[in-house]
Amino acid sequence: MGQPTNRVFSGVQPTGNLHLGNYLGAIRKFVTLQDSHECIYCVVDLHAVTADLVQKDLKSQTREIAAAFIASGIDPEKHIVFNQSQVREHSELAWLFNCVARMGWLRRMTQFKEKAGKNSEEASVGLFTYPNLMAADILLYRATHVPVGDDQKQHLELTRDIATKFNNDFKERIAEFGHGEEYFPITEPIIDGPATRVMSLRDGSRKMSKSEPSDMSRINLTDSADDIAKKIRKARTDSEPLPESVEDLKGRAEAENLVGIYAALADESPGSVVRQFAGKQFGEFKPALAELAVEKLSPINQEMKRLLDDPAAMDKILANGADRAREIASVTMREVREIFGFLGD
Ligand code: TRP
Repeated sequence: MGQPTNRVFSGVQPTGNLHLGNYLGAIRKFVTLQDSHECIYCVVDLHAVTADLVQKDLKSQTREIAAAFIASGIDPEKHIVFNQSQVREHSELAWLFNCVARMGWLRRMTQFKEKAGKNSEEASVGLFTYPNLMAADILLYRATHVPVGDDQKQHLELTRDIATKFNNDFKERIAEFGHGEEYFPITEPIIDGPATRVMSLRDGSRKMSKSEPSDMSRINLTDSADDIAKKIRKARTDSEPLPESVEDLKGRAEAENLVGIYAALADESPGSVVRQFAGKQFGEFKPALAELAVEKLSPINQEMKRLLDDPAAMDKILANGADRAREIASVTMREVREIFGFLGD
């Protein structure tokens, strides 16, 4: 296998409903990348059990993420859509990366500190080594690019550190086995492109999140047209009309958020959105936004429903994706075992 030069890998955890923030912030970007890259998109169920050991409805949550990928326009035949735990090589490479990564590197991970909170002694060891599994996901496929949100940038840095240490420590063996200079690529993040930070509809200073108690704070990809319209109608705003320019949205977090959502859904700039609605009240802007959101999200919602109505067919798509992922992953693992010097098969 030659080294790929334009391979994208990304993963989404099957924990809780997908919402507009996931769609505009990540999935839409995954869709766009299909034109320029060979893409591998994974439902990372092994990551899901690092936080809560006993997950409710893991199977249906897994199918739901995969259905959202496909309904949003990811082509599971041209590209690969699969479920992490069905490709055992992820766990195997993660173990070896536990031995490559250093304690100090992982101790610096801010997400672990946030997720574990004060009670880090009670956190699972898996939550601590989570970034090593993420590195394994990416490097098993020698992915060159990973679309990531801000919160995952540090984990991608760690992935690069692991690749660099592996390449250096095993330099001679990598050359001996004819794998050239570097075995693993130094994966680049993709941070630009169509990604929008979507905030809560109830509080413009917080990210839209599945863990926020009020369902009114987010638009779920499974929401009906009526729910979407209602949530937008009730979204918090101030009482000023929309301004003439985006600069004047500063300090008006809720207004800025709704304009940002409109712009992202319409594929326009926030500037052009405020120009269209300058001087209008939210009483006029919100129905326009609701109509646009329903127009863009309903087809996705309906296609997700159709896919999820037939779980056996969904599982078949995932099994096919896993077979094709495994073809790549098994070659990497065979070579990595050889480089480590294990006896092999
Ligand atoms: N940690 C990522 C998140 O929570 C999910 C993830 C797991 C991932 N493996 C990955 C993202 C590999 C990109 C590449 O969002």
